[in-house]
Amino acid sequence: MAPPRRLPVPWLKPGVFAGALVPLVALAWQGLNGTLGADPVAIALNRFGLLALIFLLASLAATPAKLLLGWTWPLRLRRMLGLFAFFYACVHFATYVAVDQRFDWPVLWADVTKRKFMVVGFAAFLLLLPLALTSTDASVRRLGLRRWKALHRLAYLAGVLAAVHFLWRVKLDIRQPLLYALVLGALLLVRVVDAVRTRRAKAQRQTSASAA
Ligand code: HEM
Repeated sequence: MAPPRRLPVPWLKPGVFAGALVPLVALAWQGLNGTLGADPVAIALNRFGLLALIFLLASLAATPAKLLLGWTWPLRLRRMLGLFAFFYACVHFATYVAVDQRFDWPVLWADVTKRKFMVVGFAAFLLLLPLALTSTDASVRRLGLRRWKALHRLAYLAGVLAAVHFLWRVKLDIRQPLLYALVLGALLLVRVVDAVRTRRAKAQRQTSASAA
């Protein structure tokens, strides 16, 4: 897999890395200062969940950016953005298990198996796990590019489940989760249109080759 062109600015990767940690540091700071509001645990849980979803969408935007804008540099950030989505999903889950439910396993099991928004949240998390574990170059070599790419298409399913998790969680004002779902839908649509076009072009080439 040929590495995409140089990043627009050399500090972009460390800059995005540092920037991705700012919400965590800010939240920890607010937590320590007691300025997180009346229900700090719910605030933290929701903010980490939102960050997980935002980074997942950002990593899924890399290929559409190449297809629509011809930008190849976002592909250099895709792995880091995907790993931050997994990182914040882990922090989100850990906040729920350790801080919110204080390791009350019977309640936890009941929640992630019975409450439907939690079931899809947990399913999204379980999907992110193999993607994070196979995010290394060594995994691409071991699996082979075709199988690796097929596996990492699961990122879209994780995105859909996370959007549904968000939608079912809010119940009343669904505008915000709907907006995230629309962004995810648009990114997926770009991929589907491109896949259909590629398949059609290939079929045409084969037809004209066999006609020749
Ligand atoms: C591991 C399984 C998961 C559990 C147990 C879980 C649990 C929760 C809980 C309890 C809330 C609501 C907190 C409240 O009532 O205030 C929540 C909200 C949320 N979670 Fe999860 N979640 C999980 C996985 C995920 C994943 C993988 C993502 C994204 C990739 C995610 C994204 C969100 C979002 C966006 C919200 C709503 C944030 C808001 O309202 O501002 N969750 N989750």
